Amino acid sequence: MRLALLGCGTVGQEVVRLLHEQATDLTARIGAPLEIAGIAVRRLGRDRGDLAVDPALFTTDALSLIKRDDVDVVVEVVGGIEPARGWLVEALRAGKSVVTANKALLAEDGVALHDAAAEGGGDLYYEASVAGAIPLLRPLRESLHGDRINRVTGIVNGTTNFILSAMDATGAGFAEALEEATELGYAEADPTADVEGFDAAAKAAILASLAFHTRVGAADVHREGITEVTAADMASAQAMGCTIKLLCIAARGVDPTGRETVSVRVHPAMIPRSHPLASVGDAFNAVFVEADAAGQLMFYGRGAGGAPTASAVLGDVVAVARNRLAGVRAASESAYADLSVRPMGEALTRYHVSLDVADRPGVLAAVAGVFARHDVSIATVRQGSAGGSGGGTGRADDAELVIVTHVAPDAALAATVGELRGLDIVRSVTSVLRVEGGV
Ligand code: NDP
Ligand code: HSE
Repeated sequence: MRLALLGCGTVGQEVVRLLHEQATDLTARIGAPLEIAGIAVRRLGRDRGDLAVDPALFTTDALSLIKRDDVDVVVEVVGGIEPARGWLVEALRAGKSVVTANKALLAEDGVALHDAAAEGGGDLYYEASVAGAIPLLRPLRESLHGDRINRVTGIVNGTTNFILSAMDATGAGFAEALEEATELGYAEADPTADVEGFDAAAKAAILASLAFHTRVGAADVHREGITEVTAADMASAQAMGCTIKLLCIAARGVDPTGRETVSVRVHPAMIPRSHPLASVGDAFNAVFVEADAAGQLMFYGRGAGGAPTASAVLGDVVAVARNRLAGVRAASESAYADLSVRPMGEALTRYHVSLDVADRPGVLAAVAGVFARHDVSIATVRQGSAGGSGGGTGRADDAELVIVTHVAPDAALAATVGELRGLDIVRSVTSVLRVEGGV
């Protein structure tokens, strides 16, 4: 079984290392030895440490490597949309099996890859693309195929989880926690994809597609990052017995006409400390799956890093290699349900709103009236002195109001907050956060 490796960076080098270290076991598990036919990289002269590879295997011509007749399996750990898309479509159409960790490409144009796999008859596996080492996609696409998944809630980005965990533990602001994440090597030099939620949104699209048998792409996912989360927000959450996590949430629903739908979103949210995801700290990932018959399932582990990600890649390599030797192919993409993706405005959620208001008669009634006008039901109201946990102005004639709503459409909640911001009696809206997980 001959393998073309595209990319030899953080993940690729660990793939090579594991291929060497576990060669005997891999041969036994597959039923044939695995051999590297070639390794495509961008810079031939780059120092790759003590990697034990014949230098003659390296090439900068990925396409020619893929096209070679003696290549059975293509492993792509380069990343990005192009040229990876062109390479993988070419490989799949030619009947090769592909293993990729490229969530950005799968979320952007998974359709092209699945169609090419169907055309060529090879396998397309991508376990490493979501939550690194955690076996998650195989359970969704195989083990849970007899069940009906209703909701997937996950922490799928390690960098942002590290930052939010640090803010929770130390009271630091976002910028300070990001600096620490960068110093410790968790955040990349350009952290945009992580902190703005693009990475989590790509993973959310992949998870939703598998869980709901529906094609969901990155553009279908409502995305908000964590750059606006403040130390005051975290203090508000703590005062409620909660913490803040960047969640990816994919949920079944029903639209006003009774049609089944799915909503997919990534945003920071308050969750109670008793929720299983609240205790997921540092750069760890975890995904909470709720299914009809299985009930609640939790998947937890390392979502990034060279070796953990390579573990998932190698697992896929063994699976596709065994399939090739047996002359079979895994079940193709399952998108039969074809549910429509609901816009964020229709997603049902809850809000936690902290306000600094004038402390005088009628103010609470006026504020409550705004919620009522938008048909948003208030669950709890707490009043304290301004400058409390929400970080208010501290004026003697001000008060802090903390309001938690019942479930309502996101658009109604957003309109409520918009109107509150325009009221004279509202000095400032100090914190607005969605609330998940039954506070
Ligand atoms: P790196 O940036 O460390 O490595 C990328 C590799 O691709 C390098 O070897 C680079 O070559 C090579 N490369 C880049 N452009 C080209 C090109 N045009 N032609 C040939 N080779 C090229 O990335 P990672 O290993 O971190 O990530 C790889 C993939 O795995 C990405 O899709 C990423 O999202 C995914 N992933 C990564 C995780 C992680 O923890 N790092 C976790 C989960 C998924 P050269 O070495 O010469 O520069
Ligand atoms: N940048 C990602 C994270 C790792 O922070 O989780 C790769 O998916």
